[in-house]
Amino acid sequence: MKIAIIGGGPAGLYSAILLKKQRPNAEITVYERNRADDTFGFGVVFSDATLDNFEKYDSPSYRRITQEFAYWDDIAVHFRGTVHRVGGNGFCGCSRRKLLLILQERARELGVTLMFEADIEDEAGFADADLVVLADGINSRFRDRYIEHFQPEVDLRSNVFAWMGSTRPLDAFTFIFQETEWGPFIAHAYQYEVGRSTWIFETDPQTFKRAGLEGLNEKQSADRMAGIFGWFLEGHQLLTNRSMWRNFPMIRSKRWVKDNMVLLGDAKATAHFSIGSGTKLAMEDAIALADAMQRAPTVDAALLQYEHGRREEVEKTQHAADVSLVWFEHVDRFWDFDPVQFAFGVMTRAKAITYDNLTLRAPDFVSEVDKAFAKQVRAKGFGVDVDKPVAPMFQPLRLREMELANRAVVSPMCMYSAKEGVPGDFHLVHYGSRAIGGAGLIFTEMTCVGRDARITPGCTGLWNDEQEAAWRRIVDFVHVNSAAKICLQLGHAGRKGATRLMWDGMDRPLEEGGWDVLSASPIPYFPDSQVPREMDRAAMDAVKAAFVQAAKRGEACGFDMLELHSAHGYLLASFISPLTNQRSDAYGGSLANRLRFPLEVFEALRAAWPSHKPMSVRISATDWAEGGITGDDAVVVARAFAEAGVDLVDVSTGQTVRDAQPIYGRMFQTPFSEQVRNEARVATMCVGNITTSDQVNTILAAGRADLVALGRPHLVDPSFTLKAAGWYGAEAVFCPPQYLPGKEQIFRNSVRDRQDFDDLKIKAKPKTRAELKAEATKPLAAE
Ligand SMILES: Cc1cc2nc3c(=O)[nH]c(=O)nc-3n(C[C@H](O)[C@H](O)[C@H](O)COP(=O)(O)OP(=O)(O)OC[C@H]3O[C@@H](n4cnc5c(N)ncnc54)[C@H](O)[C@@H]3O)c2cc1C
Ligand SMILES: Cc1cc2nc3c(=O)[nH]c(=O)nc-3n(C[C@H](O)[C@H](O)[C@H](O)COP(=O)(O)O)c2cc1C
Repeated sequence: MKIAIIGGGPAGLYSAILLKKQRPNAEITVYERNRADDTFGFGVVFSDATLDNFEKYDSPSYRRITQEFAYWDDIAVHFRGTVHRVGGNGFCGCSRRKLLLILQERARELGVTLMFEADIEDEAGFADADLVVLADGINSRFRDRYIEHFQPEVDLRSNVFAWMGSTRPLDAFTFIFQETEWGPFIAHAYQYEVGRSTWIFETDPQTFKRAGLEGLNEKQSADRMAGIFGWFLEGHQLLTNRSMWRNFPMIRSKRWVKDNMVLLGDAKATAHFSIGSGTKLAMEDAIALADAMQRAPTVDAALLQYEHGRREEVEKTQHAADVSLVWFEHVDRFWDFDPVQFAFGVMTRAKAITYDNLTLRAPDFVSEVDKAFAKQVRAKGFGVDVDKPVAPMFQPLRLREMELANRAVVSPMCMYSAKEGVPGDFHLVHYGSRAIGGAGLIFTEMTCVGRDARITPGCTGLWNDEQEAAWRRIVDFVHVNSAAKICLQLGHAGRKGATRLMWDGMDRPLEEGGWDVLSASPIPYFPDSQVPREMDRAAMDAVKAAFVQAAKRGEACGFDMLELHSAHGYLLASFISPLTNQRSDAYGGSLANRLRFPLEVFEALRAAWPSHKPMSVRISATDWAEGGITGDDAVVVARAFAEAGVDLVDVSTGQTVRDAQPIYGRMFQTPFSEQVRNEARVATMCVGNITTSDQVNTILAAGRADLVALGRPHLVDPSFTLKAAGWYGAEAVFCPPQYLPGKEQIFRNSVRDRQDFDDLKIKAKPKTRAELKAEATKPLAAE
């Protein structure tokens, strides 16, 4: 077999090694346009887990890499004169140059031919190759040559960065967030060998301009950076090596394979340096390709297997990198945070590291985070303990005069079980048991302001006396038997009305017994859905009056709070999104116009609703669709509602149009809550695939929301909060007297369960690299 590999970076060299090990007789050549030791950059970083993988696939190169590495355990965050260190991170850094020399040496040893100073123009010279590996890096000539086929998507990120080096020794992965007269600068720095560290400087484009960095040469910009970070560099130099300022290109290619050619490493997809995964991805691509070549009967089949098998992992890493880079791009959102909360945000920005996880390895740090959180709560007038505070989830919150005992919320969820809008026994048990289960706040399902405002025939309503009486029974039960507060969510279905019960076909039109539906514009949801009537002024007045009437009934029921549902493509949302609002009058066009009617309704409600009781609005912070609402729009929407007197923005997303493309994942909507909260400066509630109390605490402690709502987790576990209270030892959680023996048991067991869980986690933690380094210095066994 003949294999040509274009590019002698980590992806090209490692794939040469693994393929040659597998096929000693194959003729494998790596073509590299540079000289053997002519490489850009300074150090690369690998996590413990990545190194484990290298050990499994090629122990000799692994040993040589680990002999050369600098190991560290701590991450240090420097911010506003403070430094917070968090241990247990297990990383190693090594010089890119040495890494490549090791891989070259190993490749040669195995019989791979390495051709340096061979700049390959096209694949014409490889007509007889069975496989051509395109590992030609971020600016891949081959990817661009077949751009129509590979369909790369290049997202040039807004921040600029430059990769430099220094002689400054570092004993931790170091983030420095530096205030300057021009704006914030960030340094990501780590040591990769004795006396050498990598320094990546990053800033936003405005700060870059204001600081006068445009047009400076490498030496001049290194001097400027040395000026800004001089206090930390302690006289050590900054070194340059093609250290130009650039924008990071986030690259995703639709296809990775063309005939017998395959893209590997940065050529096919990149991951932002803030999660240090570019080299890891490149080398793991090589592993995936080698695995596929081992298993599949033909090269074609192997390439197919590689592409299909590897894509999910790459996309997951890219998603984590995306989340991380967005955090750095918006660091100004957190700039006025308490430094310990800021540091907690840095640590938990990419989801993998959480509150519980940090409690295990840096309990003092988390205790500081808890204290800072409790102090903020105390500053709002609550007499909470700041020396031994409970976890953020169990800290109280006040909205107007409503006090919540904790921050866990039952998200609004339609039960599709009402008869003519009247909630029945099912609803009493449903809401009652969740209130007893300990959540601080319970939302009703979307309760409709009129018969024709319903989504389905099973939706609850609040337009007549019978419904009012039924809701009062539920509210009374909650108030008498629990400490929970209960919020009425009012809505109008709009064009999604007259549809079937969830279990009969969500959003599908009713076959019989339907009613006329309204919307901002006459656009049906599905092509075969009812065409809604475009609302005229009279219809708007009627709908507004119906909302006000329902709110008055809600007050008569004793609800503690009122939410206006302006999300998920229902009537008010249909005005906000440009995808569903194509009006040419004062209610269409600009975002300000599109907000006009929802705000009118909100203002009418605010006037009718008692001023001591809070109100929230639920919004879809993105439509997940081309041309639709984005996070930036959501900030404008939130500001407008805040000016109209909203106390909380309930940040959901999507469900506006059928062809939306949401990016699901754990806590997937939380970034929107974070953006709205910290840009519009309004309290938010986040929701969406948040399933554990650990995540709840992580979100709250990092200042990404003020309340956390859980929907589906509460469907199967009404006592979610009570159980979490046991886990975190939050004794003060409400429990009805009838259930106290259960509470005592859960609190007793939780102490032991938690200990067992921590022990298990500690036991399961792989050997540290410090230990492995000791092993690696043993003489090499013949391989
Ligand atoms: C600022 C910065 C910091 C980073 N920090 C880290 C980090 O800490 N950890 C980490 O893991 N990764 C990091 N990376 C990413 C890492 O450098 C890359 O992701 C990784 O090198 C990708 O490997 P590769 O083999 O795909 O591409 P490359 O390393 O770019 O290798 C491609 C090779 O192909 C050669 N080539 C290109 N075209 C041709 C041609 N036509 N003919 C012959 N040869 C050709 C190039 O000369 C080059 O040697 C960082 C990147 C940047 C920009
Ligand atoms: C069965 C069900 C019914 C729902 N009904 C409503 C509703 O009436 N009003 C609303 O705003 N959201 C509704 N939602 C959305 C939830 O409030 C929540 O935003 C969503 O389920 C995501 O949160 P989760 O991942 O915690 O479930 C519903 C969700 C489910 C699962």
